[in-house]
Amino acid sequence: MRVGILTGGGDCPGLNAVIRAVVRTLEIEGGDCRTVGVLDGFLGLITDRTRVLSGGAVSGILPRGGTILGSSNRDNPFDFDGMIDGEHVTGDVTDRVLATVKRNKLDALVVIGGDGTLSIADEFAELGVPVVGVPKTIDNDLGSTDQTFGFDTAVGVCTEAIDRIHTTAESHHRVMVVEVMGRDAGWIALHAGMAAGGDVILLPEIPFRYESIVDAVQARCARGKRFSIIVVAEGAAAEGGEQVFYRTVDTGFIKKRLGGIGHTVGLELERRVGLESRTTILGHVQRGGTPSSRDRILATRFGVCAARQVIAGNFRTMSSLRGSSVVAVPLGEAVSEPKRVDPQGELVSVARATGISFGNEG
Ligand code: F6P
Repeated sequence: MRVGILTGGGDCPGLNAVIRAVVRTLEIEGGDCRTVGVLDGFLGLITDRTRVLSGGAVSGILPRGGTILGSSNRDNPFDFDGMIDGEHVTGDVTDRVLATVKRNKLDALVVIGGDGTLSIADEFAELGVPVVGVPKTIDNDLGSTDQTFGFDTAVGVCTEAIDRIHTTAESHHRVMVVEVMGRDAGWIALHAGMAAGGDVILLPEIPFRYESIVDAVQARCARGKRFSIIVVAEGAAAEGGEQVFYRTVDTGFIKKRLGGIGHTVGLELERRVGLESRTTILGHVQRGGTPSSRDRILATRFGVCAARQVIAGNFRTMSSLRGSSVVAVPLGEAVSEPKRVDPQGELVSVARATGISFGNEG
């Protein structure tokens, strides 16, 4: 049996741990199974770029960030817009993908990706390709699994950064704004903000009002705390306002990108409160580097589960954490409802009980 494996979408810590787990499980439990790595996500299938992965090829990659296979978050074979062999090609290139699968004699394909990549994988399953999925994203916003790997590492990176910002905020009596990733879900902001003792947390799920943040910062001043830490998710927006994008163009392979709300919030608070403000945008620092031990283990469990589905011929499924168990669920669930922070949920309630403002009180 020959099994293709690819990583698609934005990378995250733990991808290599999945690849290693799939390759090793197929070797140890799959008999004569051979893994073929597809380079740069679906682009590798479109352009037929692969490399055979043996146990030796995945040795030493468990703690490495990124993906040894490369990734791409803009090469959808059903709606392609990019360069192939020096030529600009647009439209449906799925025939190229199917030809690569045939040429490489792939009996199955393991696709590691977020909602976008996994929905493309599901479309290929519909076309008859035997696919097994593995969910990943630092955003932790997939409804089909209780947690994605990469999230724990991102939260750890953000927590450490906010801890560091705390000390300089205190020295200079400033309002320090820390912007974290998370697109339309505030999980990273909520977890890191709580873990690092943020004073205000702004989430895409809870539109904020400046008056409310000002009240929170001034209440702290009244208690002798002349500094405040505001943790803002990149997708947060003021009530009646809009999300902030640093890249507003959305054509072809240039994609609109969130970012910059931290500066808007910082400057507005400086104007309204009279305390100096500084903003730090953590950006891709959150996605790079070595995975936490928790992410390495979750990624390994997901990889082993995916390889076992391949061996069992249980296709169009996806690894998923349900409670404390990793199980295979229908791949279609990957594109079901996204998982958002519940503004009335336990975590937000716990945060409020410890004095954290979400910028919507009063
Ligand atoms: O979905 C993961 C994510 O890191 C988001 O949090 C962020 O908005 C986006 O990817 C950034 O994508 P890119 O790497 O293309 O800038």
